[in-house]
Amino acid sequence: MRIGIPAETSAGEKRVATVPEVVEKLIKLGFTVAVQSGAGDAANCSDDAYRAAGAEIIDGAAKLWAESDIVFKVVAPTSAEVALMREGGTLVGFIWPAQNPELMQQLAAKKATVLAIDALPRMLSRAQKMDALTSQAGVAGYRAVIEAANVFGRFFNGQITAAGKVPPAKVFIAGAGVAGLAAIGTAAGLGAIVRANDTRAEVADQVKSLGGEFVKVDYEEEGGGGGGYAKVMSEGFQQAQRDMYAKQAREVDIIITTALIPGKPAPRLITAEMVQSMKPGSVIVDMAAERGGNCELTEPGQALVKHGVTIVGYTDLNSRLAKQSSTLYGTNLFRLAEELCKNKDGVINVNMEDDAIRGLTVIKDGEITWPAPAPKLAAVAKPAAAKPATAPAAKGHGSAGAPASAGKIVAIFSVVALLFLLIGAYAPAAFLGHFTVFVLACFVGYMVVWNVTPALHTPLMSVTNAISSIIAIGALVQIAPPTVLGLDRPDGWILWLAVAGIALTAVNMFGGFAVTKRMLSMFRK
Ligand code: NAI
Repeated sequence: MRIGIPAETSAGEKRVATVPEVVEKLIKLGFTVAVQSGAGDAANCSDDAYRAAGAEIIDGAAKLWAESDIVFKVVAPTSAEVALMREGGTLVGFIWPAQNPELMQQLAAKKATVLAIDALPRMLSRAQKMDALTSQAGVAGYRAVIEAANVFGRFFNGQITAAGKVPPAKVFIAGAGVAGLAAIGTAAGLGAIVRANDTRAEVADQVKSLGGEFVKVDYEEEGGGGGGYAKVMSEGFQQAQRDMYAKQAREVDIIITTALIPGKPAPRLITAEMVQSMKPGSVIVDMAAERGGNCELTEPGQALVKHGVTIVGYTDLNSRLAKQSSTLYGTNLFRLAEELCKNKDGVINVNMEDDAIRGLTVIKDGEITWPAPAPKLAAVAKPAAAKPATAPAAKGHGSAGAPASAGKIVAIFSVVALLFLLIGAYAPAAFLGHFTVFVLACFVGYMVVWNVTPALHTPLMSVTNAISSIIAIGALVQIAPPTVLGLDRPDGWILWLAVAGIALTAVNMFGGFAVTKRMLSMFRK
C-alpha cells in the first residue's frame, strides 16, 4: 500500500507527518511512500532528503491525495482536503472527533477509515510508543520555557560574578501533566528554582524527580478524574488554589501554565490582579491559550506586555520546533504502522479486537465508531478505586472478613508455640541455644529489611554482605600463633584453607563497603 504525506495547509503549521529517517523504516515494513513536494521544507526536510530515503516526490496535493491508500497528516484535514481523498482510503492524524462532528460526517461519506491519533487510549502501556499527544506536549513544554527565557531579561541560573551576585530565576509551573513536567525539567536544567502545582497530588513525586518543588493547595480534595486527567474542582478548593497562586505570582519571575481538563475550557488560574502583582519584567507563558487560556489576560497566538508582564499565548509551540516535533510525531505514526502491519507486507489490518487500535479508530469503512468503549484494562481498574469506601462499612457491621484473618493469626501462633515447646522439651541444650539465636536473627533481619525503603535494599544487602565476612575471624583464629590464643595452630591444608579464606573474605568485606559507599553516594545530593 502507498502512504501519502501531504503538505500541511493550516496557517503557520510547519510540521510534517513524517521525516526522511522514518520513511526508510516505513519502506522496510513493505509500504511505498509518496511525499508532496515541499511538504517538509518548513521542518528542514528537503525533497532531496525524502527522495534519498526512498520516497517518491509528487507535485500538488490533488495528485498525492488521489494516489495514496493511506494518508498521514498532522492537523485535521479541511473540507477541501477531504474532497481530494480517495473513496475508501485511510487517514491517520489529529482529528479531535468531539470538536469536529462535521468533518467526521464528511469523512464517513467518503467511506474512509480514520485513525485519530488523539483518541489513542493513553492508559495502555503498549500504546505509549504511539502517543503523539505526549510527544507533542513534551516538545511544547520545552519550547514554552525557551520562549520564556527569550523574553525574560535575566539568567535562569544563579551566578556569582566579579560584577556581583545574580539570584536564580524562580519559575512556577501550573499543571504538571506532560507539558508541565517537560517544562519543569527544562527550567530546572537551566538552573532556575522551579515550583509546580497540580490538582492531582500523585504527580508530586514526578515534580520532585525532575528537580522541582511541589506546592500543595491548602485544601483536601482529590483532583484525579481518571485516566491520568484532572476533574473540575470544588469552589472551596478553587478559592484556596487562587490564594496560593496569588502568593506565588508575587514571588516568582516566570509562570508557565499548562492546566487542562479534557473536554472543558481551560481553568482560569491567573487573574488580572495576580498579573498586576508580579514584578516588572516577569513572564507568563500560557500554554492553554488555544483552549481559552489559564490566564485572564492571554491573547491566543500573541505575546503582549500587560502591567509590565510579558504574556505569551503562542498556540504554535510545536511548529516552533518543527523538526523535533515532526520526528517524534513521525515515529509515533511509524509505531502505529507497525501495529497495523504485523506481517511487514505493506498491507494494513485495522483490528477492532485490539484495544489500542479500537480506541483510535473513529471511522471504519465509512461507519462512525467513535467513541470507543473503555479499554478492558481500564474497566477492570475501576472497582479497585472503590475499595477504601467499602472497607470501613464492612468493619462496622462485623463482617466475617476481619475476624477470620485474626483467627488465622492466632492459629498460626498456637502451632508455632507448640512446636517450640516440643523442641524445648526434647532437643539437646546446645541445639536450643543455636536455635534461639537463629530465630532472633530471623526476627531482627526481618525488622531491619522491612523498615528500610526498598530503594536502599541493595546498599543494605552489600553492607550486610560486608559485615557477614565475620568468617574472617574464624580463619584468623586458625592461623594465629599458639602464643596469642593458646590454641594449637593447625597444620597442612587446614592452614592454607584458612589463609585462602581470609583472602576471599577480604575481597567480600572491602568490596561490600566500597559498593555500599558508592550506592549511598547516589542518594546524597
Ligand atoms: P495534560 O492533560 O497532560 O496536563 C494538564 C495538567 O493540568 C494535568 O496534570 C491536570 O491535572 C492539570 N490541571 C487541570 N486542572 C488544573 C487546575 N485547576 N490546577 C492545576 N492543575 C490542573 O495536558 P498536556 O498534554 O500536558 O498539555 C497541557 C496544555 O498545553 C494543554 O492545554 C494543551 O492544549 C497545551 N498545548 C499547547 C501547545 C501550544 O502550542 N500552545 C502545544 C501542546 C499542548
